[in-house]
Amino acid sequence: MIHIRHVTRRYSAAVTALDDVSLEIAEGEFVAITGPSGCGKSTLMHLIGGLDTATSGEIVVDGLPLHGADDAELTAYRRTKIGIVFQFFHLLPTMTVTENVCLPLLLRGDAYPAARAKAGEIIELVGLGDRAQHGMHQLSGGQLQRTAIARALVHDPAVLLADEPTGNLDSANAGQIMELLQKISSQRRTTMLVVTHSEEIARQASRCIRLRDGKISHHP
Ligand SMILES: Nc1ncnc2c1ncn2[C@@H]1O[C@H](COP(=O)(O)OP(=O)(O)OP(=O)(O)O)[C@@H](O)[C@H]1O
Ligand SMILES: [Mg+2]
Repeated sequence: MIHIRHVTRRYSAAVTALDDVSLEIAEGEFVAITGPSGCGKSTLMHLIGGLDTATSGEIVVDGLPLHGADDAELTAYRRTKIGIVFQFFHLLPTMTVTENVCLPLLLRGDAYPAARAKAGEIIELVGLGDRAQHGMHQLSGGQLQRTAIARALVHDPAVLLADEPTGNLDSANAGQIMELLQKISSQRRTTMLVVTHSEEIARQASRCIRLRDGKISHHP
């Protein structure tokens, strides 16, 4: 599903965030990405998500070579193939759960009634059926994170990228979010890449990739 070949991302002469990284991720894999702060985890997620471009090297996701894609192709790619969950949610504060989750579908041109129906299903799946009409300020941290996950999955992306999705949750809530991601990964065969600082969470993944100073070192 994801082919990364000799990818380097240099922000400046002094900062090489990723240094000749090569990596293959198969469809349906649940991969944890770990490593110390500043090792390049978020940079890798941004490159795979088509939010940033590599300085050199090749990234191909679901058959699309990102290194050769123009802005319009990358926008279409993000809207159809990719779901993204970042640590600080990026949910729209004045909207309800349902409205936030509908957004990716409305952006790709779905009519509101169809979007609402699809959003309703995924909101049930993440366990927020009774909070669908709540505003963001009426939700707990774990519920906000579930909303962000529902929004990232509503368009049924091939790949879900989650950058520390449990970073600001207590361990009980973090465990529930990981269970939810695993349930979705097995039900939908969504390929999942989850950045985490938690060794415990990393152990639950089917594979763990460790980055250090912009390079990969696999766990034993
Ligand atoms: N836009 C940018 N401009 C310049 N340097 C950057 C930029 N973004 C990241 N960097 C640098 O690239 C390196 C990798 O950053 P990255 O955000 O990928 O690390 P990370 O592994 O996600 O860290 P953390 O665990 O703290 O989130 C760091 O040294 C960082 O300072
Ligand atoms: Mg980061």
